[in-house]
Amino acid sequence: MPNISAELVNKSILLVNKNNSGYIGTYIVTMRGPVWKKWRNIFNPGFSAGNLTNLVPSVVKKTGIFISILEKHSEKQDIIKMKNLLDNLTMDIIGQVVMLGERFRFSASIQSNSQRYKKASSLAIFRGRAKSFHQISPTSTIYTLVLWPKVDKHISGELQKHIEAHNQSDSPTNKSVVGLALKAYESESSQVSQTKSPERKTDMDPFFKKICIAQIKLFLFSGHDTTSSSICYTLYLLSKHPNLLRRVQEELDQVFSADRRQISERITQKPALLKEIPYTTAVIRESLRLFPTVSSTCDGERDFFVTDSHGRRFPTENFLVWVNPHAVHHTPELWENPDEFQPERWSEDKRKQIPKGAWRAFEHGARNYIGQVLAMLESKILVCMVARDFVVRDVYEELEQPGSVKRVVGERAYQVQLSQPAGDLPCRIERI
Ligand code: HEM
Repeated sequence: MPNISAELVNKSILLVNKNNSGYIGTYIVTMRGPVWKKWRNIFNPGFSAGNLTNLVPSVVKKTGIFISILEKHSEKQDIIKMKNLLDNLTMDIIGQVVMLGERFRFSASIQSNSQRYKKASSLAIFRGRAKSFHQISPTSTIYTLVLWPKVDKHISGELQKHIEAHNQSDSPTNKSVVGLALKAYESESSQVSQTKSPERKTDMDPFFKKICIAQIKLFLFSGHDTTSSSICYTLYLLSKHPNLLRRVQEELDQVFSADRRQISERITQKPALLKEIPYTTAVIRESLRLFPTVSSTCDGERDFFVTDSHGRRFPTENFLVWVNPHAVHHTPELWENPDEFQPERWSEDKRKQIPKGAWRAFEHGARNYIGQVLAMLESKILVCMVARDFVVRDVYEELEQPGSVKRVVGERAYQVQLSQPAGDLPCRIERI
């Protein structure tokens, strides 16, 4: 169970009856115990800060394509859905990081593939988490039969290219998450069998291949939707707080340059500069506090009880415990003015006062989220390259009848479905 006090837990969880007790799926997010540990260790290296720093230039390049799309929309002044646009970018980036290098170009070209991957990967995870999902969703069954084989075939073909590249030690593909996982898997297998793995391979170990295909679907899903929703909210909140946007711009001018074109060059040349933008980082963390984009579940246990504020204890065994970071992040006992956007709470001296476990956008402990360095890296690069020149103006009011704008707790861009902004954040792009 993540590090969380009982008082917090009772404010933050939903208990869901678990009808598939003990299920260990093919995805690391559904695995447990030593099986989870083994596979998490194998897939960890590709997500390390060191490895991801090498990928900064290609993330900047892809973000550059996104910026040119924004430029066109700012000229046309048409209404766009920011979430959809960002989904393509983040899918592009995660595809590149995980395995496919430059071939994975959703934002520019293979739109239909993007949609196919998005649907297939998200359904894969739902089914992985709850076996019964397909029983309540006929669409899921159709996708399983029609979409998955296509996606699996595509991924399988790409994996074959990895095996070929694996034989050439200088291939850039070897630095992808899959390339490094393949290396870790081979090293682990050769330790177990105490035999040296053969020098050249022409095919992937079928078992590794099966696990790998599942993980790639998991990474594509977890790695695009969460990040794009969180970036949507950062851009949205900055548009609502022009004074804070100005502070971000001042910081960017100071650390990089007042010229946006130079920002991308400077990041490419010196990725370490991304560690020198505390205010921009605070803005991203604060957006994730107000609008956390993931809530997670874990198994209840015989000795784990939830205690409410009256001291009543509730058993959790045979239940799925659903931790709700949104509730924790909006708890007045933990956060002063919890519903206000205040990046200052993350300043060096103030952040020390934040209680442990109060900010859990990426969860805590060993089961925290594998791609957090990547998500922060992507978010920082994007905010640096967008916020200097553009404002994302939402057009909710324009699209709805006057006076009939729906709000949840006073917020129009409330979170729907998998925590994305309502209506996928319809907006116009304004050039500063
Ligand atoms: C802002 C973006 C993101 C947020 C807020 C986020 C949040 C989370 C959280 C809270 C968990 C824990 C879930 C649980 O306990 O069940 C998690 C797990 C996970 N996330 Fe993310 N995530 C983000 C982006 C990404 C990215 C870019 C990837 C890239 C692959 C990723 C891959 C995963 C995986 C594989 C797990 C399962 C880890 C395990 O069970 O060992 N996420 N994420």
